[in-house]
Amino acid sequence: MQDVLKVAMPKGRIYKQASKLFREAGFPIPEDMDDSRKLIIPVPEAGLEFIMAKPVDVATYVEYGVADIGVVGKDVLMEENRDVYELLDLGIARCRMSVIGLPDWQPVLNPRVATKYPNVASQYFREQGQQVEVIKLNGSIELAPLIGLADRIVDMVETGQTLRENGLVEQEQIFSITSRLIANRVSYRMKNESIQSLCDKLQQKMASAGKA
Ligand code: PRP
Repeated sequence: MQDVLKVAMPKGRIYKQASKLFREAGFPIPEDMDDSRKLIIPVPEAGLEFIMAKPVDVATYVEYGVADIGVVGKDVLMEENRDVYELLDLGIARCRMSVIGLPDWQPVLNPRVATKYPNVASQYFREQGQQVEVIKLNGSIELAPLIGLADRIVDMVETGQTLRENGLVEQEQIFSITSRLIANRVSYRMKNESIQSLCDKLQQKMASAGKA
């Protein structure tokens, strides 16, 4: 009998895509859980237990071993540099990290850059040889250039709707983002058979979707 795998899943819009992928890979994840507020969801038929985490916290649960594996955006992995194994690119929740500003933006000395991703932003501008002041915000980042808090922002762009509706433009793309399957280092050794079998099923599903 295989071990039950504890899976840290991102709550919200990524969960729907992730649960669909797991379902299509053959794991019987109940669909009525997609809108549930339950935080621990046992899926005994699949040998899984979902821990419903805020997306930004998924890698923390996995690093500390309270979840064996997790589904997390590349944006979070780039920002946090967690001590976890990155096993698979799941190809879902596709978007990009970009530098954004008002259309009439003009370069200034020591511009202020607002972002949820201070490490990503600092590293990017350092590599560009530009000195900036990074201001950490927790959401609605697009407000910052509109109300004069920052000259530019570094944020995720998915459909571009938020930018269009707020009269902002994408100026530079930093990297593309998809969700990744990550594993705790100890779990990966101790529960290797279960984790490997789950990876194989997800990979088979993604390969067949790619061919279709
Ligand atoms: C994210 C991101 C952008 C928006 C991009 O915000 O920070 O604001 O989505 O998506 P779009 O290109 O499809 O418009 P989120 O919805 O997570 O909310 P937040 O403002 O609280 O960060």
